Amino acid sequence: MAKTKTTYFCQNCGAQSGKWIGKCPSCNEWNTYVEEVVSKGDEPTPGIASTSTQRASKPQLINDISLSEQHRIAVYDKELSRVLGGGLVPGSLILFGGEPGIGKSTLMLQVALNMKNLKVLYVSGEESEQQIRMRAERIGMNNPNCYILTETSTQNIFKQIELLEPNLLIVDSIQTLHSAHIESSPGSVSQIRECTSELMRYAKESGTAVFLIGHITKDGSLAGPKVLEHMVDTVLQFEGDRNHVYRLLRTTKNRFGSTNELGIYEMQGSGLREVTNPSEILITAREELVSGVAIAATMEGLRPMLIETQALVSSAAYGTPQRSSTGFDLRRLAMLLAVLEKRCGFRLGVKDVFLNIAGGIKVEDPGIDLALVCAVLSSNEDMPISPKVCFAGEVGLSGEIRPVNRIAQRISEAEKLGFEHIFISKYNKKGLDIKDFNIKITMVAKIEEVFSLLFG
Ligand code: TYD
Ligand code: MG
Repeated sequence: MAKTKTTYFCQNCGAQSGKWIGKCPSCNEWNTYVEEVVSKGDEPTPGIASTSTQRASKPQLINDISLSEQHRIAVYDKELSRVLGGGLVPGSLILFGGEPGIGKSTLMLQVALNMKNLKVLYVSGEESEQQIRMRAERIGMNNPNCYILTETSTQNIFKQIELLEPNLLIVDSIQTLHSAHIESSPGSVSQIRECTSELMRYAKESGTAVFLIGHITKDGSLAGPKVLEHMVDTVLQFEGDRNHVYRLLRTTKNRFGSTNELGIYEMQGSGLREVTNPSEILITAREELVSGVAIAATMEGLRPMLIETQALVSSAAYGTPQRSSTGFDLRRLAMLLAVLEKRCGFRLGVKDVFLNIAGGIKVEDPGIDLALVCAVLSSNEDMPISPKVCFAGEVGLSGEIRPVNRIAQRISEAEKLGFEHIFISKYNKKGLDIKDFNIKITMVAKIEEVFSLLFG
């Protein structure tokens, strides 16, 4: 058996070196050298019969390629299923990232225990069998077809896979794996890359779906090289504030579906619960009216959601007014305040403005602008807005209310949740049949109009 050979390559310019060097002599970049396998000898690809690796691909007519393989495996977890684009594609490699303690292992174990019709192998390099069993007890689920393996060497993992032949493989986490082909320690760029490519080859050639749990660095990107995200089919991110009970599941890449979908979970004492009606948790039920609160009819992907926005405007206690925002882009808030100041004459420049989106959710939909602006105005005037009113509109630089996408869906959702009045952009009028709805719809073109309608 030929020995595995590795060489170091510069990630910036591709220069090659027999040993690791700190500064690349050809492009002068620092710390760009990464170890890579150049020849693996004549070892068969792990996990599958050796003959199939030798099989050379032949061109095929696109019409002759059978579609049957592309059927999806049903996922009982509705949130996960939607985020994946409607089930699990066999042979797909899914990277599942998130901060430590957010609940990645919990969700993946739930998935493993839920897939009762599949043979599932859960490989953990982070916890012992006992710990995983305890977690399963806590979640309160059981699956007679779920196997647990605590192992970190990919070669050993593939040996077990060959014996077990699972239909679904979950690896917790990619950073703990190491391949014998590479000398560097687990978690290093070259190890992560090599282990992922071995798993990818296994997934593609055996048709097994593989979930890889990945850690996230402080700045929120997946630890490891960017190339990792290029290699996998789907990148899922699990996010949320650890102090909040809600967790959001997003896709940042999906070869088999939309990347706009959002899944919501609630962390409970007994695992993660799917939140099927997010609007209910995102709106506070209040006894009395308070100022500075406005409800936005937003969209997360294809899912309409009503979210409470809260603002507090007060005279600046110190020289420089403060602007702070949770769940909304601070620069966009600054822009909205500038629009209110310059175009509509509200003197907010000397005020502190604090903004909060309820539930620890981060919203990127520009359709939330109008609600935010109304929350700010409501707090500034100290006049509450009726809790039966909601808003959907983007605010432009001249103070105009711009149209938003999927307006009919937003309106129906608001109506369904018992709202009586919705403010939308006048420019959304086209193609919208107001007679379809029972809710009162007010179309506005400028912020001033909304202001006089709300606060007189
Ligand atoms: P975990 O899945 O270990 O996070 P990760 O793998 O992303 O690091 O989740 C850890 C947190 O979840 C921990 O703080 C305890 C909490 N938790 C619950 O609140 N309820 C539960 O049923 C479980 C299993 C965990
Ligand atoms: Mg974990």
